[in-house]
Amino acid sequence: MSVIMVHGGVETSTAPPYIKVLRESALAGLNALSSGHLKAAEEAVRVLENSPLFNAGYGSVLNLDGQVEMDASVMDGETGRFGAVAAVRDVSNPVSVACRVLEETPHVLLAGDGAIKFARSRGFPPANCVTPEMMEMWRKAVSLAGRGEAAGVNLFTGMPEERGQACDTVGCVVSHRGRLAAASSTGGSFLKLPGRVGDTPVIGGGIFASRRCAVVCTGLGEAFIETLTAKYVDSLIAHGRHPQEAAEKAMVRLAGSRRAPGGIIVADSRGRWGSAYNTRTFPVALVVDGKLVEDFTPRKIQGWKSSLPKGPTP
Ligand code: GLY
Repeated sequence: MSVIMVHGGVETSTAPPYIKVLRESALAGLNALSSGHLKAAEEAVRVLENSPLFNAGYGSVLNLDGQVEMDASVMDGETGRFGAVAAVRDVSNPVSVACRVLEETPHVLLAGDGAIKFARSRGFPPANCVTPEMMEMWRKAVSLAGRGEAAGVNLFTGMPEERGQACDTVGCVVSHRGRLAAASSTGGSFLKLPGRVGDTPVIGGGIFASRRCAVVCTGLGEAFIETLTAKYVDSLIAHGRHPQEAAEKAMVRLAGSRRAPGGIIVADSRGRWGSAYNTRTFPVALVVDGKLVEDFTPRKIQGWKSSLPKGPTP
């Protein structure tokens, strides 16, 4: 039994080009399964990092200084090993750097300049992660802010609401013959303070994997960290909950305690899965036993309302 589930972030467009890349990502994970559950999760996330449509790798949102600073992590539920990078710049695939941290160092998290130095030492070449589109959004937002006007953009995406394009973290959970892995990658939030790190590289906050399940969260990172939501999902499954019920309960808890936007994907060692979110959209692709599940949609939970002006659904 194998399950590969990938997500493209809350408030992300569900238009065909986005779904197409998400499906390619899940199928890339499937193709890599013969190399192991962790490799499958890494390969799936790399596809999303390589696409300018998503807020990870090339296409990441910019911070207040106009730079891309990215977070990524991987966790092997089988061994309990974790690897992550935070506030890393100028690499195409932060998720692969996180894998090297897990596989080739005694550490779990490398940040900033140290993470970049480590990436170069492992052969990751300098790479531009700033798309012309994101640079334009940043310039507009900064100029509006300079005139004392609201930026008028989605903080998860850096994109104006009416563009209908929105992005956040991307992530993947894998369950293969009882072995579990999780991987996640993000450019974080638009106009964040330089050095800000979200939930993506925080074990138990935005990601967790054990011998029971693999969990990846997305949304307002600070809320996921403070509520340890990924670990909470794992503990619900430890107490016998189905992954779908666990994802929904965790979203209700998050909305209740922090009124924060978010989404969760989870797979367990029995090959069951679940997914819930409380935003307008949360595109997910699912492959079960080698086959794409065409009609899969995550469960929407009430509890968070966008404060953004009304616009077309992304
Ligand atoms: N969930 C992504 C972040 O807050 O950075």
